[in-house]
Formats: sequence, C-alpha cells, structure tokens
Amino acid sequence: MCGSGGLTWLLLCALCVLHSWAQQGAPSSAGGGPPNSTLLFNSASHGAHNLRNCSCNTEVMACNDALANLVCSCRTVARSALPPAGLAVRGRLTVWVRDPWVLRELLNGSTVQDLQLAACDPAPLPAQPLALFGLRRLHLLSASQGVTHPEQSLNITVGPDRGRGVRPSSSSSPFLVSFLDVALLNGLSPLKAYSVSSPPSSILAQHFPHLPLAQPFPTQQPPEPLQDCLLTFIY
Ligand SMILES: *[C@@H]1O[C@H](CO)[C@@H](O)[C@H](O)[C@H]1NC(C)=O
Ligand SMILES: *[C@@H]1O[C@H](CO)[C@@H](O)[C@H](O)[C@H]1NC(C)=O
Ligand SMILES: *[C@@H]1O[C@H](CO)[C@@H](O)[C@H](O)[C@H]1NC(C)=O
Ligand SMILES: *[C@@H]1O[C@H](CO)[C@@H](O)[C@H](O)[C@H]1NC(C)=O
Repeated sequence: MCGSGGLTWLLLCALCVLHSWAQQGAPSSAGGGPPNSTLLFNSASHGAHNLRNCSCNTEVMACNDALANLVCSCRTVARSALPPAGLAVRGRLTVWVRDPWVLRELLNGSTVQDLQLAACDPAPLPAQPLALFGLRRLHLLSASQGVTHPEQSLNITVGPDRGRGVRPSSSSSPFLVSFLDVALLNGLSPLKAYSVSSPPSSILAQHFPHLPLAQPFPTQQPPEPLQDCLLTFIY
C-alpha cells in the first residue's frame, strides 16, 4: 500500500513502519498476551527533572523517546514525586538512563524481577553499586557507538540447577539481593557475576547497615528474619 499516493497514505505508511520497528519480534499483548511492561525515562523535552512513565504492550527501540510517546501510554511524573525508597515493579521494567539521578534516586534499593537498563547518554557512568532486590533477569544495553560490549544479559537462577556448594535452605527460596556495578552500562567490559549464599537478612543487615532491608515492600514479601539470602555481585 506504500505505492499509493497522497499525504494521508504516506503518514499511514510511516506509522506502519514505525510500528513494525517497535514490535521487533515482541508479541502484542492484545488478546491475553504478555501483560504490558513499564518503561521509565527522563527526557529533556519533558523537563530535565521529570520522568516519563509509560505502559507499553510492544518492545520499543531503546532510547527512542518519540517512538515510546507514540506507541505506549505515557504520563509525566515529577522527580520530586518519586517514591523515596525505590520502586517495586511486577513484570518487566525498562529504564533508559540519561542522568545518574535516575539510577540513584529511582532504582537504587528497588524490587524488580526483570530489569532492562539502557544507557542513552554517551557520558560514561562512574563505577557505583546499585542495590536491587528480587532480581532474576537483567539486560544491559549501551547506546554509545563503538563499545566492545553493547548488549549483555544475565539470568539469576535459584534451585537445583544453581550448581555446587549450596546448602539446603530452611525456606523454599532465598531472598535475592544483587549489587550491580552501573559502570557495566558503559559497555566497555564483559559482564561477570558471582553469587554467594549468605546468612539470613537479620544478620546481613548487621554487615550492610545501609542496605534498606527493613523498608516495606509494597508488592513483595519482605525477607523473613530467618530466610537465607543469595547475594549476587554483578560487575
Ligand atoms: C507509573 O505508573 C503506574 C501506573 O499508573 C504506577 O503504578 C507507578 O507507580 C508509576 N511509577 C512511577 C515511578 O511513577
Ligand atoms: C498497555 O499499553 C497500551 C499502549 O501500548 C495502552 O494503550 C494501554 O492503556 C496499556 N494498558 C494498561 C493496562 O496499562
Ligand atoms: C546506591 O545507594 C548506596 C547507599 O546509599 C550508594 O553507596 C550507592 O552509590 C548508590 N548507587 C548509585 C548507582 O547511585
Ligand atoms: C535467560 O533466560 C531466558 C528464558 O527465560 C533466555 O531466553 C535467555 O537466553 C537467558 N539469558 C541468558 C544470558 O542466559
């Protein structure tokens, strides 16, 4: 249909192309597919101190604000209105990072299972640990040109396939605590991860006094005092 003339057709065709780009292999959620995922990004066009909060039913090409505004349902949230103790997100969370405050004020101490992080700004991020709870899947993308490791991912598995040296735990599954070095988002080094079983969270809190383990977890069970922890260092 792209052959037929007229401005309307041209516009429609452009939209079709944009839309199929955006889908890039991700199934649409229309009719009981996967639930919408959350996409958060800060963008100059909506004020440097604001965040766009989108609900998307298709995969959107990373760092493409215009496309996100077009195919997702988005609204603007003031930086000052962000939850102070981190987010708690069910399902997939995608965050496009252009400024370190997004990592520090929005993500640090968050509870998220499936996290996709993209660094959209070529300015390198300094090495700093980001604490995450309940993380099982991580995908990192660096939008900078010419980096050696533009895309890396990690699955954190718990259970029988997790390898040797895991003592049988009293509770069924450990409380997951991850420390991600955000410099990985610069795409300059290969992702490495190291997991270690740790004592229960009550003891862990003594060793990591600044870890917000005691905060309320809106959508997830807080760690039980005797629940074992699995610490994963991603660097
Ligand atoms: C984004 O919007 C969703 C749905 O309205 C809401 O539940 C969530 O708390 C918002 N997140 C932020 C960081 O504002
Ligand atoms: C899911 O995303 C679509 C746009 O991608 C939006 O129109 C719809 O309102 C979203 N649904 C929910 C429940 O957020
Ligand atoms: C997360 O918070 C910890 C403790 O306050 C801090 O040391 C760390 O630098 C923060 N991480 C980032 C990426 O800002
Ligand atoms: C993580 O698991 C998903 C399926 O759940 C798989 O498609 C993906 O390749 C895995 N990634 C890695 C890095 O193992």
